[in-house]
Amino acid sequence: MTALWWQMGVIYQIYPRSFQDTNGDGIGDLKGIERRLDYLAGLGVDAIWISPIYPSPMADFGYDVASYCDVDSRFGALADFDDLLAQAHERGLKVLLDFVPNHTSERHPWFVESRSSRDNLKRDWYIWRDPAPDGGPPNNWISDFGGSAWEWDKATSQYYYHAFLKEQADLNWRNPAVRAAMYDVMRFWFDRGVDGFRIDVLWHMVKAADFPDNPPNPDYRPAMGDMHRVLQLHSTDQPEVHRLAADMRAIADSYGTEGRGERVLIGEIYLPVDRLMHYYGQERAEVHLPFNFQLVDAPWEARALATLIADYEAALPPGGWPNWVLGNHDRPRVATKRGQAQARVAAMLLLTLRGTPTLYYGDELGLTDVAIPPAEVQDPRELREPGLALGRDPVRTPMPWDASANAGFTTAKPWLPLNADWPTRNVARMTTEPHSILRLYRRLLATRRAHPALSIGGFALPGGGGQRARICAPAWRGASHRGAQSRRTAASVGVAGLGGPVSAALGHCRRCSDGRRRCLAPPGGRGRDSNGRLTSSTGRTLTCASPCWRRSPGARRRAITVPGSW
Ligand code: GLC
Ligand code: CA
Repeated sequence: MTALWWQMGVIYQIYPRSFQDTNGDGIGDLKGIERRLDYLAGLGVDAIWISPIYPSPMADFGYDVASYCDVDSRFGALADFDDLLAQAHERGLKVLLDFVPNHTSERHPWFVESRSSRDNLKRDWYIWRDPAPDGGPPNNWISDFGGSAWEWDKATSQYYYHAFLKEQADLNWRNPAVRAAMYDVMRFWFDRGVDGFRIDVLWHMVKAADFPDNPPNPDYRPAMGDMHRVLQLHSTDQPEVHRLAADMRAIADSYGTEGRGERVLIGEIYLPVDRLMHYYGQERAEVHLPFNFQLVDAPWEARALATLIADYEAALPPGGWPNWVLGNHDRPRVATKRGQAQARVAAMLLLTLRGTPTLYYGDELGLTDVAIPPAEVQDPRELREPGLALGRDPVRTPMPWDASANAGFTTAKPWLPLNADWPTRNVARMTTEPHSILRLYRRLLATRRAHPALSIGGFALPGGGGQRARICAPAWRGASHRGAQSRRTAASVGVAGLGGPVSAALGHCRRCSDGRRRCLAPPGGRGRDSNGRLTSSTGRTLTCASPCWRRSPGARRRAITVPGSW
């Protein structure tokens, strides 16, 4: 088996407004990212995912796209993007963009046309409905940013649907012309050399055709935010969305099969694990990596984490590749949620679990959420429902690079305040401190690179409440990527300080319908048929029952030592 780059690689998310400003406007830009590529390559990541860079009125800071095939002048120009891409590729770094297919800006020319009259050719590109009999919104659906998800358009006497801000009108993906236009957008960037997309709110893309009311949420409490008054039963996760995900995957795959480089699709999907798994695809492959956000909110207790990890592993469909995340531009930072000491443990967990990890910029410095004075709040989420701690500005503050003015981020006033401890919590300073979390991240990334068992090995929890995590590469791994050893190896990684023993594990094995336990192998590998189904030695297809936590049979154990102190 040869692992693909996105299976072996570590992804690093950049929020472009906050990474590096080069033209003194207080806002990060593409040239800034280019300037910091050596830092990223040196850190040891393999790919960057850049949050939206497209022309936008910035009502939702780029997630309101006004033109899909261009770059916002605040970030630079298309030529700057091409330069950035070439420079990244030269350093062996892949580049992923954010694809925002669910909605456009209200200022996108498509929506301007659509709202111009009821018989405009683009009318049906968006979701327009007549009022309810009482003249109110067509149903009770609530925007994720609070308030009705329907906006009245006086000129044409209909409501349009917006799952987020009224400035972000939802596209009608049931319309084939919308699908064709948006698939062309993907091709536009793939043809330029982009290595993949993170797909924004994938599970929102299709709504129930008859728009029934959503049921009330029996657990709703006002502190949760208005959107939680109802359960999004009919407004999200509809069966038809899987066809769209499969179409997008086919486009991405076509580049790989034409020898133009493997492209990857990552889906932003906030759903329970059983629903999440559907986005790997059933009859047709869908996204390579449905984002697994469980570590963001998990109870930070060793046994609970072990169970969560094992349950996720057990739920993966055949061939489904795991992935893990500690944070992103929408969620509290890990160092705030868990504290500085546990942020280090979290880094260790993230970078020793098998599968594809995504890091959020600044987490490698232990950045914490920054309190934003009310007068400086920018995020519409906070402005619309203040005081509920739903705002996202605190996790989007500028990257502190050094101890010079404005932490080397900008020569102007940064668009959001810096972390108060930036004179010491910055890249330059922490690079020189032997015990800094940044040095820990570097070592972990180097260790992961040196030992492919950490990313593509199997997984199993040892029985009997063991105190060590075990990582083993089972027999099928003859990976040739980055000098992976072809012999079986295993590693033991102690995950200390989680408040109890934890066993993250390897040599993924399961109890099967013939009562035996087997280490899972990839499609076509030993013990699997070409569809990835488990088979017995006689070739019979087996079904997996409950997972077991034994080391994979035959895996020899060998300690991996992580260089340096941490
Ligand atoms: C996604 C983005 C978030 C944005 C929303 C609407 O959840 O991550 O930042 O506000 O979609 O596009
Ligand atoms: Ca700038």
